[in-house]
Amino acid sequence: MRKKIALIGGGQIGQILAMLAAQKELGDIVILDVPDYAKVCQGKALDLMEMAPHGNYDANITATSDYQDIAGADVVIVTAGKPREAGMTREDLLNVNIKIISEVAKGVKQYAPNAFCIIVTNPLDAMVYVFHKVTGFPKHQVVGMAGTLDTARWRAFIAMELGVSVADVAGTVLGGHGPDMVPLPRLTTIGGVPLSEIATPEQIEKLIARTREAGTEIVKLFGKGSAFFSPAWSAIVIAESYLKDKRRVLPCAALCEGEYGINGLFIGVPCLISGKGMEKIFEIKLTDEEKAQFEKTISSVTKTVSECQI
Ligand code: APR
Repeated sequence: MRKKIALIGGGQIGQILAMLAAQKELGDIVILDVPDYAKVCQGKALDLMEMAPHGNYDANITATSDYQDIAGADVVIVTAGKPREAGMTREDLLNVNIKIISEVAKGVKQYAPNAFCIIVTNPLDAMVYVFHKVTGFPKHQVVGMAGTLDTARWRAFIAMELGVSVADVAGTVLGGHGPDMVPLPRLTTIGGVPLSEIATPEQIEKLIARTREAGTEIVKLFGKGSAFFSPAWSAIVIAESYLKDKRRVLPCAALCEGEYGINGLFIGVPCLISGKGMEKIFEIKLTDEEKAQFEKTISSVTKTVSECQI
């Protein structure tokens, strides 16, 4: 039997998720969207079925607005909700997306209670918190996709700036998915060579600033809507690690209960993603300066979560 992947939200990110999940043959795919958009999603699903002969995949791809159709899903990826428009912060989406995520969480809890859930909707750290509260799922079953994307952006910008292969850039970005996120140049290497030995301090500062504002840079270019290719790939990497028990170590928004001195918040930390889900959080010994930056991002996430009143 193939695995089943439910994509809640079949918009910009949802459609790329469907394409990538099909191309990687992760399983059969069900796209769930609101009734008004379900027909469009059925069109997208059919289009992807017709792509299969050249895309070289076997997958059943369907679309629905009925939660019964996600029954038994192994993985749920949630992109339902509004994206940003130019001039908006992720926090501006809070009120509208809380309602959507609460509704989605109830549907997933009822019909896919054993699924590993990856939340993508913004403001990310608060939305994954809400989803977890409403479902009451154990913490290993729920993560937010943000650090994986922020790290991809950090690696991409370093490769672009230094003219090296992105494959050789290793590093991580921790903290909340916002302008206070914490890229860690001290732990970033290029083919084993520390970043600080290749890039100047000015270049590193520039790279940190660009990574922190990467989502906004794209929103400004689009005018309406936010990034979709890289967020989709970042969520697929997490889903694949779970489905294939790849045991990748990926920065995800996970529920911290004591780690990094955080209690009861979802925030970006390095996670072991295995067939068990979010199996383990790794704690990095941070320098005083990094700790101060981490405190700042924790305050921002705490503030947004406190506004959720849930
Ligand atoms: N249930 C299911 N789907 C919903 C619901 C709901 N209650 N409310 C909205 N949707 C659907 C919309 O109909 C739309 O098809 O969610 C989809 C969102 O798609 P887009 O508007 O294209 O947004 P997208 O770019 O995919 O981003 C989705 O991810 O990165 C974040 O900030 C981004 O919060 C945004 C989310």
